[in-house]
Amino acid sequence: MDKRPVGIFDSGFGGLTAVKALRALLPDEDIIYFADSARVPYGAKTPAQLRRIAKQDMDLLSSCGVKAILAACGTVSSNTADIIESYPVPAMGVIKSVVKAMGNLPLSGAVGVIATEASIKSGVYQRQLGALCPGREIIAVPCPAFVPLIESGHVSPDDEELKAAVRDALKPMKEGKIQALLLGCTHFGIISEAISAYLGEDVILVSAADCAAKEMASYLEKNSLTGGGGSLRFLTSGSAEDFSASAAKFLGTSEFPCPEHVPVMEV
Ligand code: DGL
Repeated sequence: MDKRPVGIFDSGFGGLTAVKALRALLPDEDIIYFADSARVPYGAKTPAQLRRIAKQDMDLLSSCGVKAILAACGTVSSNTADIIESYPVPAMGVIKSVVKAMGNLPLSGAVGVIATEASIKSGVYQRQLGALCPGREIIAVPCPAFVPLIESGHVSPDDEELKAAVRDALKPMKEGKIQALLLGCTHFGIISEAISAYLGEDVILVSAADCAAKEMASYLEKNSLTGGGGSLRFLTSGSAEDFSASAAKFLGTSEFPCPEHVPVMEV
């Protein structure tokens, strides 16, 4: 048993998808989540900026005494795997688990990958998925419009702006008749209903946040590191009030202390 908290971070609300999934699997874990809202979107940053961000975000969580860190961010995970994997506190990103889950689906047709610009540009999802499913058609599309929409509250499947953005971005997926879609950005789980409404319910959505939460839960269980009181603590580089309201809405609980504001530097 290890009662220290688990640290999770992302650029804004997106990583809350991983927080929610981990709490569903291991409700007794204490979780500290850092929302780097002042520097969102990570997807528009350069690999060099993302390397500085990864280090700073992990150092912040590490200074809070966490037992493990989940980089709940496809963009950081795809651009800084070496930093995450060699970090002194056990840390993992979101790529390997979701690629494995996607590769295990009993499908033979085309599959899609959507993520941020920086993730798709890195080619990591495409390479790892291609290696696991040789010969499979992989349609990879960056969706830079999604994160700003989600961060500004356009998340309802009936939201006209969101519906238009989903239609524009996912047209190649529909034309390519994909059987499954990898949600390679943790924000995208928040709009999965809008995505399914456009693509059709028969297209399987595989979420990087859910797969990473499962991987973290199984790491903690296998290494006898589970345990805690089930508390939530939030740090944010943005507005504490905005984050508090969104977290309460998304997680369905307001049982957490007021988020703490943490200043960050420009990268
Ligand atoms: N949610 C993050 C990801 O998984 C970051 C999105 C962004 O800030 O652009 O890629």
